[in-house]
Amino acid sequence: MIPCANPLAQFQSRRDEIVDAVTRVLDGGHYVLGPEVDRLERDFAAYCGVSHAVGVNSGTDALILALRALDVGPGDEVITVSHTALATVAAIIATGATPVLVDIDPVYYTMDPESMRRAVTVRTKVVIPVHLYGQCADMGSILEIAKEHRLAVIEDCAQATGAVYKGNRVGSMGDAACFSFYPTKNLGAIGDGGMVVTGNAALAFRVRQLRQYGWNDKRRTEEPGLNSRLDEVQAAILNVKLKYLDADNSRRRELAALYDKALSAQNVKLPKVRPETSHVYHLYVIEVNQRDLLLASLVEAGIAAGVHYPVPAHSHAGYDVCCHLPAAGLPITENFAGAILSLPIYPELSPGDADEVAEKLSSILQRV
Ligand SMILES: Cc1ncc(COP(=O)(O)O)c(C=O)c1O
Repeated sequence: MIPCANPLAQFQSRRDEIVDAVTRVLDGGHYVLGPEVDRLERDFAAYCGVSHAVGVNSGTDALILALRALDVGPGDEVITVSHTALATVAAIIATGATPVLVDIDPVYYTMDPESMRRAVTVRTKVVIPVHLYGQCADMGSILEIAKEHRLAVIEDCAQATGAVYKGNRVGSMGDAACFSFYPTKNLGAIGDGGMVVTGNAALAFRVRQLRQYGWNDKRRTEEPGLNSRLDEVQAAILNVKLKYLDADNSRRRELAALYDKALSAQNVKLPKVRPETSHVYHLYVIEVNQRDLLLASLVEAGIAAGVHYPVPAHSHAGYDVCCHLPAAGLPITENFAGAILSLPIYPELSPGDADEVAEKLSSILQRV
């Protein structure tokens, strides 16, 4: 079976370096928030082109802590998209704020800036554009509307580590940005991990306190926080993998180009790349007719294609009652959820396997 993502292959391709790094941590006796985390925070901030990075326990926690550090809580509204990983919306709900969900644009599948503009109210405090699938959101328009309405911007970069928008790395454009190091991500740990980055020293300072109960350096508090520390083993693994991130993202782009070419004659809609951006293809997502039939046929043919995401956030039980939607609903999001199919993509996928995916998909498309 060709999997959709393959964190095991990534471990195997860097096995010796990772085992050495983990052994160094085990022998060092310092297991949580130590020198490996310090180094990762320094190098990751530099990589993103910002001055501060704070390592936390997950991408979801990164979002919760960034929102909390921006004083978001009950009574506030936070605008984001419904077509995202549930985590984006779960984090807003965890702060007590109301998620206000807007539609995506039908070409690039990221937040539609005009839908965002229409959703702003006097209670709106923050907007969270999601750089979905590795594709940059329309940051120019979103930042302009946010500025007009004095909204803070948190970039959700969980799926786009390393992507570039008009010369800027994702993570360097908003007031803060949040990353996930979940194992399948472009920069993946071998467990959970996340990062908040920001150019704002005061915001970084507050996130740093909130990640550990609200403690300052004397273990005194001014407000309650969480326990959301990054551990040394994960940081050491990420320090190894960060060196290879650009090369890995290039591999993803090569595989995407291979799929683009091999599927160009088929009756499917291929992903488009926003002009003046560099896509990092966390996922390669196409639009098809008869999606569920195709998905089942691919699985039968040994290809574990996926769907990201079959159910929009606002349609999940429990979330439906928490989210505010525009009166007209989210028609593009709803249509898209029924048509999308994610093909296997990861740096270790061989061109031969990618060809096989394209060939099998093409032959199934002739039959349905
Ligand atoms: C867009 C997006 N935001 C946030 C997250 C949350 O990250 P984590 O799973 O590390 O909590 C994820 C990953 O699942 C994601 O894909």
